[in-house]
Amino acid sequence: MDQLRFRHAGEPLLLDSLTLRIRAGERVALVGPSGAGKSTLLALIAGLLPAAGGEIRVDGLPVDEVHARRLRARMAWIGQGSHVFAGTVQRNVALDRSGVRREEVRDALALAALDGVAQALPEGSLGERGIGLSGGELMRLALARAAVQPDARLLLVDEPTAHLDPRTAEAVIEGLLRLARDRTLIVATHDPALIARMDRTIALNARDATIGTATDTPTDTPTDPPTKTPIVTPMAPPHASIALGSAA
Ligand SMILES: Nc1ncnc2c1ncn2[C@@H]1O[C@H](COP(=O)(O)OP(=O)(O)OP(=O)(O)O)[C@@H](O)[C@H]1O
Ligand SMILES: [Mg+2]
Repeated sequence: MDQLRFRHAGEPLLLDSLTLRIRAGERVALVGPSGAGKSTLLALIAGLLPAAGGEIRVDGLPVDEVHARRLRARMAWIGQGSHVFAGTVQRNVALDRSGVRREEVRDALALAALDGVAQALPEGSLGERGIGLSGGELMRLALARAAVQPDARLLLVDEPTAHLDPRTAEAVIEGLLRLARDRTLIVATHDPALIARMDRTIALNARDATIGTATDTPTDTPTDPPTKTPIVTPMAPPHASIALGSAA
């Protein structure tokens, strides 16, 4: 992400000269006060909003009109706005992706700690608009959906633990970490428990970003050796990008 500038239509600049680099396999918490632009930045990375200046690259390719669609196929969006369709939990995980095998869905449900829910619900019992799923279960459904997308190497996650009780939040965090094992994770959050499990935090502070500090050492093997080099360099000249490469 290089010298990124963004404003919502008719609004003052929200992000100004934001330059940062996220490496393949990193788990990054995007933090900052409400309104700082965390969700906006996730949408920019996904190519859902146009930058006013500067550039975002994912895997070396600019997130622009030419590449955004192709790049989005390599991302998964995990947010609270997940839609539920009438049908079984299993079908809601696989969606209309052909070639998703039953076992993959079963594994995804287990990863997202949704297997119990799926078993408790009779066939086709999920209605429109999330009937039968709580907020936490909806978030876990989004996790399970991402788990059956092997091409989704970049996870863009917006407030996965907001409004969840601590136990459910912990289940979501565990699922997220398992999912992120061989993927790159960027998660917007205010949740200290989640921030503590990430490799690094990037603090957005409306129009600015400051160098975050790793708050915890991951329990599993880190994908990159620890480094003192600041990877988030606000206003720094080097070209920057998000790498999805081979983290596994
Ligand atoms: N579609 C939009 N049009 C105009 N302004 C918007 C739009 N979406 C967001 N904003 C504004 O942009 C700013 C950043 O919003 P954003 O949702 O990115 O913040 P956030 O850091 O995710 O906050 P929170 O922690 O509350 O989720 C806010 O001032 C918000 O009001
Ligand atoms: Mg937000």
